[in-house]
Amino acid sequence: MQEKKAGLNNAEFWSGRFTEPVAEIVKRYTASVFFDNRLAEVDIRGSLAHAKMLAAVGVLSGEDLAAIERGMAEILREIHAGQFEWQLDLEDVHLNIERRLTEKVGDAGKRLHTGRSRNDQVATDVRLYVRDAIDRNLQQLKDVQLAFLSLAEKHADTVMPGFTHLQVAQPVSFGHHMLAYFEMMKRDAERFADCRKRVNRLPLGAAALAGTTYPIDRAMVARELGFDGVCENSLDAVSDRDFAIEYCAAASLLMTHLSRLSEELILWMTPRFGFIKLSDRFCTGSSIMPQKKNPDVPELIRGKTGRSNGNLISLLTLMKGQPLAYNKDNQEDKEPLFDSIDTVRDTLAIVADMLTGVTVNTEAMRAAASQGFATATDLADYLVKKGVAFRDAHEIVALAVRHAELQGCDLNDLPLDVLKGFSAGIDADVYSVLTLEGSLASRNHIGGTAPAQVRAAVERARGALD
Ligand code: ARG
Repeated sequence: MQEKKAGLNNAEFWSGRFTEPVAEIVKRYTASVFFDNRLAEVDIRGSLAHAKMLAAVGVLSGEDLAAIERGMAEILREIHAGQFEWQLDLEDVHLNIERRLTEKVGDAGKRLHTGRSRNDQVATDVRLYVRDAIDRNLQQLKDVQLAFLSLAEKHADTVMPGFTHLQVAQPVSFGHHMLAYFEMMKRDAERFADCRKRVNRLPLGAAALAGTTYPIDRAMVARELGFDGVCENSLDAVSDRDFAIEYCAAASLLMTHLSRLSEELILWMTPRFGFIKLSDRFCTGSSIMPQKKNPDVPELIRGKTGRSNGNLISLLTLMKGQPLAYNKDNQEDKEPLFDSIDTVRDTLAIVADMLTGVTVNTEAMRAAASQGFATATDLADYLVKKGVAFRDAHEIVALAVRHAELQGCDLNDLPLDVLKGFSAGIDADVYSVLTLEGSLASRNHIGGTAPAQVRAAVERARGALD
C-alpha cells in the first residue's frame, strides 16, 4: 500500500463541505480499490468513449480530448507494466485513474468527469467487464462441448449401465451419457448468451441518478463501446445489478452441471466402479497412503459450486433492500461477481482439458451393465409386442428376474424352456433383445440411446456449433 501523499486523497474530490477528515478505519472500510482495480481497462475504455462524445458535442475541446487520450494511453501502459501506484486513499479504481490523469495532463483531466458520475461510470465498467467474461465463457463452453462430442463419438457403441436411484436401470451408450452433458452445456451457453443481451446496455449518461444538463449523445457512446443500446431510465441505470445477478445465476447452473459431472467422474474412478481413469495431471496422491490417487480436481469443482451459489445469494441479498437509486451497497457487488467469473473461467478451462484426459475401461462398464438385470425392461417390451398387457408383462418379468437371481445368473442365461415357463409367448428370438447391444439398438428414436442415434446427434451438434 502506498504512503499517503499530501493533498492526494479521495476527499479532494468531494471534501468542500466537510469539517473533519474521514477516520482511517472508515477509509479502509469504504475503499474498493484493491478489488475493483481489475476494472481499470474497462474504466479507461469507458472514459475515452465519454470524452470523445463530450468533444463531439462541443463540451470538451479537441486539445483536451487529445490530452486525455495521451494521458490514458500512458496510464494503461503503467498498469500493464505493474507500475501504477494504486492508493487506498483514493478509494476506488475510478478516482485513482482520474487523479493520475490529472497529474499527467492537468486541467483536461479535471474536465473528464463533466456530465458523468461514478454511479453511471461504475455501472458501465461492470457491464463491460461482465460482457467480456461472457464472451470468453462462450468460447470456453464451446471447447467443453466439443470435448463431450469427441467422447460421445468415440464411445457411441460403448455400453454402460444407466442408473436411476444409483441402481442399475437399463443399459445405455457411454456416448449417450456424454451427450446428456453436451445438452446441459448447450443450455448454459444459451443462458449466458441471453444474459448478454441485458448486460449489453449503456448506463453512462444517467450521471448520478437523474441524467445530466449537458447535451450528451448517449447513442454515440453506446456505439463506441459496442453496446446494443442505452439503459432507458437513469434511475434504473445506476441502481440495478440484475444483470450481475443473472450472470451469477447462469454461472451457478453451469457449475451445478459440472458438479454433477464431477460427482460421476469421482464415482467412476473409484476401483469399485473402475469405469474410467483420469490423467494423472488431474489427480494427487496422499501424504500418508502411498496407494492413493485422489480426484482432487473434480472434488474441487464440486466444492467450488458452493461458493458460486453463495455469490448468487450474496448479490440477491445485496439488492433486495435498496431504495432507488444508487447506494453504496452496490460496491459490494464486485467481489462475489468477480469470484463467480474467475471460478467459471478456471473451471471451464480445466474441464475442457480434463475430458480429453478421460480413458474409458469399456470392459468394466460392460461387466457392470451385465449385472443387475439391466435388460429386464426389454423382456417386458418383448412380451408386450407379443400381445401381453404391459402390467402383466411387468409381473412375468419380475418373476423371471427372481428366478434368475436365485440361480445366480442373468436373464439371457436362462434356457428357452425355462423362459417359456413364465410366458408361452417367449420364443428363441427373445435372446436378441436380452443382449446389451440389442437393448441399446432398439431405443432407436431421436433422444434414444441407440448408437446410431448417438452418432446422428453428434453430427447434428457439430453442425450447430460451427
Ligand atoms: N466504488 C463505487 C462502487 O463500486 C463507485 C461508485 C461510487 N459512487 C458514490 N456515489 N459513492 O459502487
